[in-house]
Amino acid sequence: MHLVDRLGGELPRSPVTVELDDIQATVLRYRPEPYYGTHVLLHIDDGRAGRELLRNLTPYVASAAEWWRAGEAWISVALSYTGMVALGLPQASLRSFPEAFRSGMAAQADKLRDYGPNDPKNWDAPFGTGQVHIGVSVFSDSEQAWRETVEMARHHYRRLAGITELSAQAFGAQPGDLNPLGYKDSIGQPAIEGSGVEPLPGQGRPIKAGEFILGYPGEGGAPLPMPHPDVLGRNGTFVGLRKYQSRVGTFNRFLREHTRTEQERELLAAKLVGRWRSGAPLTLAPSQDDPALGADPRRNNDFTYADDPHGHQVPLGSHMRRMNPRDTVMTQLADVNVHRIIRRSTTFGAPYDPDATSPEADEVPRGLYFLFLSAKAMETMEFLQQEWINNGNFMDLGDERDPNIGLQEEGATFTIPRAPVRRRIHGIQTFNVLRGGEYFFMPSLSALRWIGGLPAASTRL
Ligand code: HEM
Repeated sequence: MHLVDRLGGELPRSPVTVELDDIQATVLRYRPEPYYGTHVLLHIDDGRAGRELLRNLTPYVASAAEWWRAGEAWISVALSYTGMVALGLPQASLRSFPEAFRSGMAAQADKLRDYGPNDPKNWDAPFGTGQVHIGVSVFSDSEQAWRETVEMARHHYRRLAGITELSAQAFGAQPGDLNPLGYKDSIGQPAIEGSGVEPLPGQGRPIKAGEFILGYPGEGGAPLPMPHPDVLGRNGTFVGLRKYQSRVGTFNRFLREHTRTEQERELLAAKLVGRWRSGAPLTLAPSQDDPALGADPRRNNDFTYADDPHGHQVPLGSHMRRMNPRDTVMTQLADVNVHRIIRRSTTFGAPYDPDATSPEADEVPRGLYFLFLSAKAMETMEFLQQEWINNGNFMDLGDERDPNIGLQEEGATFTIPRAPVRRRIHGIQTFNVLRGGEYFFMPSLSALRWIGGLPAASTRL
């Protein structure tokens, strides 16, 4: 089911001022429910084959025109920096990409605080090797359309000798669309100015399109720098992919060790994130879950933190409040509107098992391919990883880290503010371990056509 259906077939419309038919659908289209899909990572052995693949695949890449309506299945294509080198982009174009993008996510481990278990040396193949050139993703709300579309994409790359499939990860199809730790996800998303739809209740004011799509003014008033020539940069955006393995055994043991009843366990799980597993926000359902609220897109994001300045409902350090503090008064000032990201979370592997408590359960393949999109994805990711995920100072929480994706050290804590005394839980663990990551550029449809049509000679420039 797509957003428009979940809202009862109607969405308040607003003027369109971005070129929806040139922007890839995945930039704006919400993940459906239920959802099925596959992320394919490809290597280009021969630039000519790479360009041929783009020429053949581009007609099937969905545009964002009427993104709120959605087709049954859609394809997106994204290119890494090494992929664009292999495709033979002119040197001047290659040089025009930001340095962090050119060096790749693994090389930015220091800035991203990807240490210890999250260190790129522990990543799964093919991540961080420079081998990943093209990312093709298929999203669908129907199993059959998903399978057919993946087959169609495969048909195009398998018949080209110069293209190698490095990996193909199926995702979705989880009972209740829950993520690997058993929560409903992909609720909070930014509203984007000029995208044709009014913000949903609680989404906040629309953010300037240039924060998410290249070629339009951003929050600062001017468009962000974009790759040259214009046909390459305009209507494109950057994508960060982070593959997380969820340590379900460790997570369940943590919940059990710090609670006595199932009710307390669910409340602790909700405090870590800021929402009950059903998606119901603690601001609106502070003491008891409300699944109907969690399922209702008109109500489940309709809140601010104005009435909860100390975090008695939603802990200041919970995942959701860290990742989007909304109107929280922070000890280190930041403009929340310039740190927003579009998220496309895709859960893979075995479904969440609430009874799994063994160390082996940590290693059952299960987790998230977390996709975040932004016109300055590299910069935003560094900011989030350094300031809001692996630090607590902005909320006066000292060295406490994000309870969901923070890298926890020995004896780490999580604070649940309450009256008269707060509860400080000791021994929080790293629940989601990073097992891979890549930066991609998601070009516009005209840019894909431009790259596909590049003359072979440009590979020698
Ligand atoms: C395994 C990894 C992760 C899990 C299990 C997870 C889980 C969740 C859940 C359950 C929510 C609440 C529901 C929702 O609004 O979608 C949420 C919200 C959110 N998460 Fe994550 N997340 C993960 C990784 C990340 C990462 C890596 C980032 C960013 C760097 C991130 C950023 C956000 C944001 C921005 C929100 C929405 C906050 C809001 O608008 O109120 N998450 N996440």
